[in-house]
Amino acid sequence: MTHYDVIIIGAGAAGLMAAATAGQRGRSVLVVEHARRVGKKILMSGGGRCNFTNLDSGPGHFISANPHFSKSALARYTQWDFIALVERHGIPYHEKTAGQLFCDRKAYDIVRMLLAECQAGGVNVHTGVTVTDVAVGPPHRIDTPDGPFTADSLVIATGGLSIPRMGATPFGLEFAERLGLQIKPTRAALVPFVLGKRRQKQLGDLAGISVDAEVCAGGACFREALLLTHKGLSGPAVLQASSYWTEGEAVAIDLLPGTDLEELVAAARPNHPNLHLKNLLADFLPKRLAQRWGELWLPDGSLARLSQADLAKAGDLIHRWTIYPAATEGYPTAEVTLGGVDTAELSSKTLECKRYPGLYFIGEVVDVTGHLGGHNFQWAWASGHAAGKAI
Ligand code: FDA
Repeated sequence: MTHYDVIIIGAGAAGLMAAATAGQRGRSVLVVEHARRVGKKILMSGGGRCNFTNLDSGPGHFISANPHFSKSALARYTQWDFIALVERHGIPYHEKTAGQLFCDRKAYDIVRMLLAECQAGGVNVHTGVTVTDVAVGPPHRIDTPDGPFTADSLVIATGGLSIPRMGATPFGLEFAERLGLQIKPTRAALVPFVLGKRRQKQLGDLAGISVDAEVCAGGACFREALLLTHKGLSGPAVLQASSYWTEGEAVAIDLLPGTDLEELVAAARPNHPNLHLKNLLADFLPKRLAQRWGELWLPDGSLARLSQADLAKAGDLIHRWTIYPAATEGYPTAEVTLGGVDTAELSSKTLECKRYPGLYFIGEVVDVTGHLGGHNFQWAWASGHAAGKAI
């Protein structure tokens, strides 16, 4: 068969969801994937256990030039719909922190479930196939080494740019550009920061130390773990903040969130007048971090001898530690890509392209990017489902 109702390029989270949904509605569906395996990012996600959704998922957890765009699809296919699907397939899961749901066993459970759903819809999945050309119709046509295929609907589900070694390509973005569609500028997000050489020298040997912190960038603040690395900073709080950071901007870090250094000193001073600030800090921060921090930036001298001005300065430093990352680690380690196909080009209900009937863009290739914690998969499921219902 060379003509299908639907051709989907990309067998990742969004593509497989769209394929299963359309297939189960009686559509003939061909999915074309250039990697040898489907759902590679699902397999590597969540440390191999796939954080497949979040109990609190909702439009407020997404970044887009149009914050309203994701509402329709997210409302029509919610986290509860996906959880029900997971339960129907008997996949054991658990809640980790803050509503994040993970497989108990392996991420492969999710891939197997999606493939079973595709099979139930009679979907044809071709892996290891390179699309050499696309002509927009309808009928739409793709050229591959296996020959040409045509379809009434064409869905681009080729994902973002992160982790090229796992099969990420700019295919969807370049194709959209070729059609003259608007693209919101892309950059790596949910990605560790790289510090300048001087800071790396000061802090690099503390790699592996993790601390509860509030990290703020571009007007957004996240309180979660911060992890020191050889090259800079990582951990959930930093990854989240990275999605709001632009090059050259400051990042403000509160190393003692929810506490007041001046109050801590006032409480400790009567009984421990000879204690040094860095030693007091060691009660609240990992010891090596407190020591290094103290040596580098805190005023010397015992608590008894600290002036009010010294204290205010120390409080400011510890609660508003300002750093200027040199860069992020970029696409090789980023979880997602910020930006993508401008939502103004698409219907929020169906993800169909306004200018090209029968052409759809879904998942991460679209300018909708989730926070850390299962939201990106929820967007892939919801946008895939929305298109799958329309095609
Ligand atoms: P996805 O990347 O899943 O699929 C795109 C597919 O298109 C791939 O199979 C790719 O090979 C294929 N493709 C690309 N170019 C092609 C071409 N030219 N021809 C044919 N096929 C092509 N999110 C979350 O919610 N919870 C989590 O736990 C994690 N964890 C995580 C860990 C890591 C290391 C990364 C990199 C990412 C995550 N994410 C995540 C993000 C999540 O994986 C991502 O947002 C979704 O997979 C996006 O789904 P898509 O279907 O849009 O793209």
